[in-house]
Amino acid sequence: MTGHVPVLTAEVLHQLRPEFGGVFVDCTVGLGGHSRVLLAAGAARIIGLDRDAEALDRAREALAPWLERVELVHADYRSIEAVLDRLGVAVVDGALADLGVSSMQLDEPGRGFSFQRDEPLDMRMDRSAGETAADLVARSSERDLADAIFQYGEERHSRRIARAIVDARRQSPIDTTGRLAAIVRRAMPHRGWMRIDPATRTFQALRIWVNRELEGLDRFLEAAARRLRLGARLVVITFHSLEDRIVKHTLRALERSDVAAMKVLTKKPIVPTDEEVQRNPRARSAKLRAAERII
Ligand SMILES: C[S@@+](CC[C@H](N)C(=O)[O-])C[C@H]1O[C@@H](n2cnc3c(N)ncnc32)[C@H](O)[C@@H]1O
Repeated sequence: MTGHVPVLTAEVLHQLRPEFGGVFVDCTVGLGGHSRVLLAAGAARIIGLDRDAEALDRAREALAPWLERVELVHADYRSIEAVLDRLGVAVVDGALADLGVSSMQLDEPGRGFSFQRDEPLDMRMDRSAGETAADLVARSSERDLADAIFQYGEERHSRRIARAIVDARRQSPIDTTGRLAAIVRRAMPHRGWMRIDPATRTFQALRIWVNRELEGLDRFLEAAARRLRLGARLVVITFHSLEDRIVKHTLRALERSDVAAMKVLTKKPIVPTDEEVQRNPRARSAKLRAAERII
């Protein structure tokens, strides 16, 4: 498998300890990078979930040598309990969630996540369901657009951008990444040198909105905790502060819970070394948090 490098693998192995065998649930199997490492290190069985059917095809290829030890399920991780029930698995020996988008989703033409190419404005991780980014941009009020761009993109020019989107869609539908990026860039007040493309935050916001990435993340972590055997660990990797904040608070709240209580093992999140970031620039913003089930 070329092009895909899973992040913080040494730390994932260190936390999940697959060398003792055990059943693991990889809640975001993606291209199978982490699962592959877990299997090679001794995991007896992996249940791999992803909401992106194309990712599961890639995972199947990456995990070909171990397929008899792997179950790949097209599912949203928020339905982890139903998936495990269906497979007759009461508890697992560890769970991993490497949140966000995969390099395949960003790089593969036709997915509409990136403004690097001009293509249909889709952005759905699960292309079998839900509204595309173009649908949301077409039907949302100026206010909702501004709120989403502000909240999910942490974009301080959200109001100007929302106004520009609403003006532009009166002329014709905004259904390509190129058109949206051009509208956002034009709406920005400052056109001098910028560290990142001015459309970056708006694209992040739309992606999070389209895929409802923050919705139910807390309930998913609680559900994952319930399905760990005592002493088993949950490892979560995030790529932006909005997600990391939810993970941090939910794990902390689980420390005080009477059912499925967890002990947080990472007082501070673990981040990649400079060397890893150099090798794999996408690891740059990764943060890993881990907790162990104690009750
Ligand atoms: C960062 S990638 C995971 C990469 C993987 N760890 C690897 O090494 O190949 C995140 C994956 O999570 C999936 N994903 C995001 N939200 C999801 C959800 N709610 N349910 C299931 N999968 C989800 C995405 O489709 C994507 O394939």
